Amino acid sequence: MNSEDNVINTSLQADKLSSSESAPVIEIWGKRPLSGHISVSGAKNSALVVLAGTILCSQDCRIRNIPNLVDIGRMADVLTALGVKVTRNGDTLDVDASSISHSRAPYEIVSKLRASFFVIGPLLARLGVARVPLPGGCAIGARPVALHIRGLQALGAEVHMDHGIVHAYVPGTRGRLKGGKIYLDYPSVGATETLMMAATLAEGETVIENAAQEPEVLDLANFCRAMGARIRGAGTNTITIVGVPSLHSTDYGIIPDRIEAGTFMLAGAITKSPISLSPIIPEHLTPIIAKLAEAGTRVEMEGHSRARIVPGEKLLPIEIETRPHPGFPTDMQAQFMALTTLANGDSVITETVFENRLQHVAEFNRMGANIRLTGNSAVIRGVPQLSGAPVTGTDLRAAAALLVAGLAAEGKTTLHGLHHLDRGYENIEAKLSAVGARLRRVPSSSLVADSANQPVVV
Ligand code: EPZ
Repeated sequence: MNSEDNVINTSLQADKLSSSESAPVIEIWGKRPLSGHISVSGAKNSALVVLAGTILCSQDCRIRNIPNLVDIGRMADVLTALGVKVTRNGDTLDVDASSISHSRAPYEIVSKLRASFFVIGPLLARLGVARVPLPGGCAIGARPVALHIRGLQALGAEVHMDHGIVHAYVPGTRGRLKGGKIYLDYPSVGATETLMMAATLAEGETVIENAAQEPEVLDLANFCRAMGARIRGAGTNTITIVGVPSLHSTDYGIIPDRIEAGTFMLAGAITKSPISLSPIIPEHLTPIIAKLAEAGTRVEMEGHSRARIVPGEKLLPIEIETRPHPGFPTDMQAQFMALTTLANGDSVITETVFENRLQHVAEFNRMGANIRLTGNSAVIRGVPQLSGAPVTGTDLRAAAALLVAGLAAEGKTTLHGLHHLDRGYENIEAKLSAVGARLRRVPSSSLVADSANQPVVV
């Protein structure tokens, strides 16, 4: 079995497991102090789009610090289906798109990984044609792609839908996109990334206004620049790209995952544990560190890339409204809600980025929290204690937040829905066990009800 098989098996195994009766669960025994250090993996949301970006290059690329996640396996499957050679070696992927042979991404994989839609920009720029299934919605929202398509049309592409497939091509013989001005109605991360990649090989200059400013957008721009692209202003709301005829190979390292790091910071705060974690890039976590401070937990830097949690006496109530970066990240909303369930007073959390990302509220209330929903806002009245219960993660960050809550709850929490969690967290049980958390992954088929109707392993 060669390493390519390895990459592919990860995602196939995940698909098989998630639907079967024996879908695993994580059991967490809470109320234990944590201590020690946690290593932060490479950023999922950067790795996914950088892997899509390798299609732009007609030579091979080496990408380092790639987390071993189900989603990464699926993106590698998409590249392989397009005729790209992908080889994994630990946390490094060698990607050779020199002999890319297909312009159609397979529905079976795209339907499981929304981010695979990111290949549309690079395919169109490199081959002049792309056929990518419409990704469709997910648990947290409808997730439309109109901004991606409108932007590609502004670069001269013809785009139409054909039986659920977005079919894009560049008219004329030269098949090269043309630079242009694009104003995004909303600073969409995905649309900014798609259009920035497409513009790298276009003729002339492209300006993207009201662009997303997330650190992952900047990391993608740095990767493209390392291949010879001419990009200015990434990380601000105006990005300028001057197209070049081709890009060359590079050896690039992905940034650390600010959302994984933030999740571990919340695990430290909610258990009042002085854990440390690295590597992080502190400016990527500014809104997270600021809100933790408001909640009474300080984050101290030890050197450039190592952070230590300094728990406060009390957990204080806070107000949060999710926003595009540099506003408060929606991907940290659920984890902070877990913290506010134990705060001294009322907190308010409003989700403005996705229309359906508050499903974890019911699960927190199952653990004894006191949360009321009004529209896209949750009012959380802090309680003295959470109690362990069987709960289900309805999406990636909801699953992580329920795990964090389980670390602080009385008794045992049984977390279902791990197919969500595994999409974005590498070895999370091992990392938390290493700092003293008591949790384990067991097949749900091995659970039976005990006298308190609590599932026990047989
Ligand atoms: C990226 O998704 C991330 N995913 C998400 O992380 C993250 O929550 C999101 O950015 C916001 O930060 C990846 O990078 C793979 P958007 P993306 O386009 O690009 C609307 C996680 O937990 N919109 O910025 O899909 C859209 O419906 C995931 O790791 C349009 O209306 O996010 C949403 O309401 C979840 N039309 C809002 O913009 C469009 O054409 C933000 O979406 C595109 C988007």
